[in-house]
Amino acid sequence: MIKESHITLKNISKTYGEKIVFKDFEISIPKGRTTILMGSSGRGKTTLLNILMGLESPDVGTVNGIEGMRLSAVFQEDRLCELLSVETNIKMVLNSKHRHERIMENLELAGLGKELKTPVKKLSGGMKRRVAIVRAVMAESDIILMDEPFKGLDNDTRLRCMEYVKKCSHGKTLIISTHNDEEADFMGDLIIKI
Ligand SMILES: Nc1ncnc2c1ncn2[C@@H]1O[C@H](COP(=O)(O)OP(=O)(O)OP(=O)(O)O)[C@@H](O)[C@H]1O
Ligand SMILES: [Mg+2]
Repeated sequence: MIKESHITLKNISKTYGEKIVFKDFEISIPKGRTTILMGSSGRGKTTLLNILMGLESPDVGTVNGIEGMRLSAVFQEDRLCELLSVETNIKMVLNSKHRHERIMENLELAGLGKELKTPVKKLSGGMKRRVAIVRAVMAESDIILMDEPFKGLDNDTRLRCMEYVKKCSHGKTLIISTHNDEEADFMGDLIIKI
């Protein structure tokens, strides 16, 4: 079987009631690189990521090239287990061979670490966001989908996290949605406006 080099969406239409989100929409996302999905609020970025992840089905159209790929994600909401510690939230997506030091290393690159044993519910919004980012980066995946991952972080923390994601997901297929031009330029090999 020939391995496809792109994930392709063809002829996609998606409506919610009266609201047409996509009509005859097509994109091609190169594997092994970082693609940025840019679009204003309500334009359909989350819907598109959900279609790629198979969490939503298009009314019409096809998605090719993603079958068999292992996915990890930063959702628009953090979707962490609030009562569990930072470490447990991350360990949940790892196999047992991952050492404690690797988790610490990743947390430190994202500007965390001291909070390892803290229940997530006691963290600030920006700290929770970074735990969600570390979880997605560390999970064994071929493709990482991130929905506005750096939103709400202060400038220094945002830059640090962008550097972390860039360094630690190198070679994977990374799909990031954002409204922010600076993030798009820093992270993206390819920017798609939707
Ligand atoms: N489950 C749903 N039921 C009805 N309408 C929906 C649903 N999900 C999304 N929509 C509508 O689809 C459109 C696209 O929403 P989506 O969340 O994909 O936008 P977005 O680009 O991610 O926006 P934001 O930047 O605000 O997160 C919006 O008009 C939204 O109201
Ligand atoms: Mg969204």
